[in-house]
Amino acid sequence: MRVAVLLERRNGETRVAATPETVKKYIGMGLEVTVEQGAGLASGITDAAYAEAGAKLAADAAGALAGAGIVLKVRAPLAAGEGEVDEFSAIPRGALLIGTLGADADAAARYAAAGIEACSMELLPRITRAQSMDVLSSQANLAGYRAVIEGATSYDKGFPMMMTAAGTVPAANVFIMGAGVAGLQAIATARRLGGRVSATDVRPAAKEEIKSLGASFVGYEDEESKAAQTAGGYAKQLSAEFYARQAEVVAAHIAKQDVVVCTALVQGRRAPTLVTAAMVASMKPGSVIVDIAADAGGNCAVTKPGEMVVTENGVKVLGFTNWPGRLPAASSALYARNLLTFLSTFWDKEAKAPKLPEEDEIVKGVTLTRGGAVVHPLMKPAA
Ligand code: NAI
Repeated sequence: MRVAVLLERRNGETRVAATPETVKKYIGMGLEVTVEQGAGLASGITDAAYAEAGAKLAADAAGALAGAGIVLKVRAPLAAGEGEVDEFSAIPRGALLIGTLGADADAAARYAAAGIEACSMELLPRITRAQSMDVLSSQANLAGYRAVIEGATSYDKGFPMMMTAAGTVPAANVFIMGAGVAGLQAIATARRLGGRVSATDVRPAAKEEIKSLGASFVGYEDEESKAAQTAGGYAKQLSAEFYARQAEVVAAHIAKQDVVVCTALVQGRRAPTLVTAAMVASMKPGSVIVDIAADAGGNCAVTKPGEMVVTENGVKVLGFTNWPGRLPAASSALYARNLLTFLSTFWDKEAKAPKLPEEDEIVKGVTLTRGGAVVHPLMKPAA
């Protein structure tokens, strides 16, 4: 069976779904691997490195996809009219497509109609057994790190307190909003750089995690927030009254911060607005807001997704999107391993082919389509 690895073309994506390391492992599993030329360049992987790992190289997407039984992607394949290359139509019927497809019901219906067996890894259940395949975690972790690095670079002073003969530079006050995977890594990174770090979250479990990393907890807690976590571990959408109380606590704190890193998300919804325009206006000139929730609309009211905004009072608001794509070599390495773990977990050694048991919780979580039909409960057309 052949695996195809394509060059990612969507929105300047820099990552790639397989690395020479995973290519070698796929070949060891009895697969052939074809990589589209240039697929790894933005992640620092040359065609020669793939060839050395045993992959064949194809001149274009159609060449890589010809005869493929498995297609590995970061983003959803481009369809006709979405770019200069129609990747979608070149995927053979019956092929297993694995990526972070970000599909809705219409997209899932198109995969089904094309006979593509589509698996979307961002839908993976957050269970212990799935941790090593968890693309959201691997990518969020790196995004959290990068956000602090970008914040420190844009901040005109240093993070650590520096006592010099010419006087003392105070430590930067760094506030991390949302202490999930990205936020916890942001706390750890900001602490390593010497910042004075505080953090907030709505899930009760997050408070202890914040403290265990040596940051102080700032937040509003009440009966509602005691039940703010879903069974899946995510934050729930909370009431307008709760958000208003939370905003009061946060507003006083934000005015004293030098760098604010926003990571708060509520699954399946637009990111909650936690930093209002008035809060931004209260900050000192030279302060920085790094909004890694920008892909979901942003946590800061001033954020322009994909851009850096400098406000009238001199606050920089970094709303870049695709944060993992800002450190592509590391993100690709982890993403590629996540996909390898998924495939090798559901692998029939005798047949040298994937075997995805329909009743398995992980398989159920990620499978959009099977045998020409949409099977994912979230992707079925409204009745
Ligand atoms: P996420 O990316 O959906 O959200 C980021 C953070 O924003 C979360 O901590 C959330 O509570 C917080 N948030 C939402 N609304 C907020 C608000 N109004 N104010 C402040 N913070 C707010 O979450 P992520 O990072 O994907 O992790 C979600 C949970 O899943 C965590 O508990 C994590 O430990 C758990 N997890 C479990 C895994 C496993 O067992 N396999 C793997 C990865 C995560």
